[in-house]
Amino acid sequence: MATFRDGLLAGKTAFVAGASSGINLQIATRLAQAGAAVTVLSRSPEKIEAAAAGIRATGAKCIGIAQDVRDHDGVGAAFAKAADTHGEIDILVSGAAGNFVAPFNGISYNGFRAVIDIDLVGCYNVMRQGFQHLRKPGASVITISAPQSLHPYPFQAHVNAAKAGADMLVKTIAVEWGPQGVRVNSIIPGPIADTEGMNRLAPTPEAMAKSAKGNPMQRLGTKDEVADLALFLCSDAAAYITGAIIPCDGGLCLQGAGRVGG
Ligand code: NAP
Ligand code: COA
Repeated sequence: MATFRDGLLAGKTAFVAGASSGINLQIATRLAQAGAAVTVLSRSPEKIEAAAAGIRATGAKCIGIAQDVRDHDGVGAAFAKAADTHGEIDILVSGAAGNFVAPFNGISYNGFRAVIDIDLVGCYNVMRQGFQHLRKPGASVITISAPQSLHPYPFQAHVNAAKAGADMLVKTIAVEWGPQGVRVNSIIPGPIADTEGMNRLAPTPEAMAKSAKGNPMQRLGTKDEVADLALFLCSDAAAYITGAIIPCDGGLCLQGAGRVGG
């Protein structure tokens, strides 16, 4: 059955960073389903090639690139390869992230740096290196943030700081890039079912159930629901939306800071 998604992005190209699994893979798959030629990137050669092969199996054009977003020059080379293969980039999604649960005094210098370097500096690398390859005017850039950007979740000091920083980058760049016809927005997913992120934050069935029950919508979200918001943001229907930090969280963020796992 045809849906509103089919053909929406025909002739467009997309680059999704951190897309070997989870929410970002679902976004890449949705963009491909809508007709975009897609590049997916993550660290693991095996995982990213499997993800790209899965998308190609649906009949879409897709290449996978193994690259750590912490390597500024390497990210630049990845964009050059993507542009060589598919042409200028219409849709750029920055979603690579790392997380673990630990009290501030249990986060070593290396641990703090790892999360800041992936979630914040990695986002800078993707935006900074990607810009020259964006189609201007018309490109849409989306970052994948988290509720930790808005509220101080305990045992998440590194992620709180990194995601808040990345969302401020979004707002700043939206103003700077607007005159060139590039929109920049951020999605804040709530607790999303069947993801590595939730498995880390709510590692037991009881914690998972508590997180679902504590949400105003009384359930976890789905990867599809986040992917549909991404599709909307990169479509012409969102042509006047930029610099927005948009929760897709069942209302979770309205309740202020919680504890990880609900
Ligand atoms: P996930 O499946 O673990 O996705 C993380 C992705 O980032 C993977 O593809 C991983 O692949 C890649 N990655 C990690 N470090 C990288 C690096 N240094 N360089 C390049 N790629 C890297 O987790 P997820 O739960 O779906 O999370 C996806 C996004 O949603 C994240 O930005 C997260 O903060 C956000 N989010 C998730 C939830 C949730 O409920 N799950 C809630 C709020 C926000 P490799 O291991 O191959 O590198
Ligand atoms: N508690 C405390 N410290 C931890 C930790 C934990 N659960 N997990 C990792 N660390 C520390 C390590 O001990 C190390 O510090 P040290 O050298 O002082 O011992 C530091 O973090 C870096 O760990 P390392 O495994 O070398 O980093 P990495 O770059 O290979 O991996 C992570 C980055 C730690 C973020 C890893 O969890 C990861 O790759 N995550 C990606 C998937 C993910 O998190 N998905 C959910 C997205 S929301």
